[in-house]
Amino acid sequence: MKKMLFLAAVLSSLLFAQSETETCKKCHPQIVDEFEGSMHASSTYYKDPIHKGAWDLHPLKEKGDYNCKECHAPLAKNEDEIKNGVTCASCHTIKDVEEHAAKNKNIYGSDPKTFYSAEAGREKEKVVYKKESSWFGMSTTSVGSPYHNIDYTNEKFYNGQMCMGCHSHRQNAAQLTVCETGKEGVQKKEENCITCHMPIVQGTATTIRQSQDHAYHGFAGTHKNPEMLSKYVDIELNKRSSGFDVVINNKAPHNLMLHPMRVVELRVNLINGSKATSLMSHSFVRALGNENGPSMPWLANQIVTDTMIKANEKKIISYTDALKKGDKVEVQLGYYIVTSKTAEKLNIAEHKELQKFNILKQKSFIVE
Ligand code: HEC
Ligand code: HEC
Ligand code: HEC
Ligand code: HEC
Ligand code: HEC
Repeated sequence: MKKMLFLAAVLSSLLFAQSETETCKKCHPQIVDEFEGSMHASSTYYKDPIHKGAWDLHPLKEKGDYNCKECHAPLAKNEDEIKNGVTCASCHTIKDVEEHAAKNKNIYGSDPKTFYSAEAGREKEKVVYKKESSWFGMSTTSVGSPYHNIDYTNEKFYNGQMCMGCHSHRQNAAQLTVCETGKEGVQKKEENCITCHMPIVQGTATTIRQSQDHAYHGFAGTHKNPEMLSKYVDIELNKRSSGFDVVINNKAPHNLMLHPMRVVELRVNLINGSKATSLMSHSFVRALGNENGPSMPWLANQIVTDTMIKANEKKIISYTDALKKGDKVEVQLGYYIVTSKTAEKLNIAEHKELQKFNILKQKSFIVE
């Protein structure tokens, strides 16, 4: 009885205009909470200072042509909706992804209330909520959502291809590929963009049909929750007769970092008794530029340097410092979201949190 009244309240409140996430929150509270802190929910100039910095300098701004919207706020119909960025429906109504040279394109389903999703064992189901069935029936049955239909048959929600309309690649006006994720990450159901970046976490997916766990909607990435991804990067140390090698094993099926503003850094400390020495650090970047050197992505026509750790690469960095038995070697692999130099160019120098060194993986080794 309690549940029924709750549903009645939910459904009647749905009749009033409210934002999408407020609606979803009624039945998917934990997923919405996670989502609200994610970069997808903060993907436009309202909530992402880096995006704002880039957009403010971008030549299209003067023309008022915010074509970034195609990926940063695809379903927004007005300025107010641009605030919401990549919304629930901008993913859950992706029917197909069309491939193009400059950038891919999402093809959205024609019914805005039919959501595609994935669930093992239900791959052939289309769950249509029938309005004729009474609320009494609804409170006892656990099939379907009283708010929307669900289509579990879209295989792109099982292998990660639904991420590729926005994430696959993008060329600038000079036809230079500014960023590229590569298709290796969308081949397998067992491991793909979704399984790594939306790992299974505890808590029910809906309040109406209880489940043990759900796919994490805070998204693990460089800004948020990098610790959820650290298991996909490994560090080994190999002692040589004169010196040692640090081996970085990138288990991701794409370059360790994808956005051209990122800089990865390896830091090594050698500790001998009470004496600690910082050895030379190494940076890994894929920097874009033009005849005048490094530049913003939209002004670039060439790759200036590319030392980025590649998909599934084992990168070996050699040190000539001799190791003695009992020495301790501390290794940190981390990254900058933007360097202080880039932050200055983007006029976001006051955002210190975006310029700090973030640790992705650290390990200590005692020399035997
Ligand atoms: C009145 C309650 C209610 C509201 C409001 C609601 N949902 Fe649901 N939703 C459900 C229920 C119940 C299920 C589970 C159906 C099942 O498992 O058979 C579900 C399932 C889903 C699924 C598929 C989950 C899976 O099994 O893979 C998605 C995706 C989804 N909802 C998205 C949304 C979005 C996005 C919104 C907001 C626009 C929303 N829902 C609003 C009740 C609701
Ligand atoms: C509609 C376009 C779109 C789709 C579909 C999409 N993304 Fe994104 N994603 C973006 C945009 C835009 C950003 C950048 C947001 C920002 O930094 O301002 C982003 C950022 C990210 C990040 C970086 C987060 C961080 O903390 O740095 C990850 C990881 C990510 N997406 C994973 C995924 C995965 C996995 C999928 C598929 C399940 C997916 N995305 C689907 C548009 C999309
Ligand atoms: C084809 C889809 C697409 C288009 C169009 C697009 N972006 Fe993006 N953008 C993304 C994705 C996906 C990410 C996340 C990638 C990552 O973090 O590596 C991203 C990330 C970014 C970032 C990094 C944000 C951060 O917080 O680190 C900036 C800045 C950015 N985009 C600016 C723009 C601007 C400005 C435009 C329009 C002129 C634009 N983008 C158009 C897909 C797109
Ligand atoms: C085996 C796990 C794995 C798979 C599969 C995977 N990734 Fe990643 N991804 C990582 C790791 C590890 C990082 C780097 C750590 C971090 O960003 O915190 C990363 C970083 C990212 C970032 C942030 C890059 C940046 O420069 O800010 C985006 C965006 C992203 N992945 C999208 C995707 C997409 C889209 C797919 C599917 C095509 C995918 N990933 C498949 C593990 C994975
Ligand atoms: C960037 C794309 C993206 C966005 C944005 C997104 N989702 Fe999802 N969601 C997915 C994918 C992919 C899955 C399927 C994961 C799986 O179960 O394998 C999923 C699964 C779900 C599920 C089922 C979870 C489970 O594990 O059973 C629900 C419910 C859901 N989403 C609701 C929402 C709601 C509500 C929002 C907005 C607050 C939202 N999603 C935003 C991509 C997205």
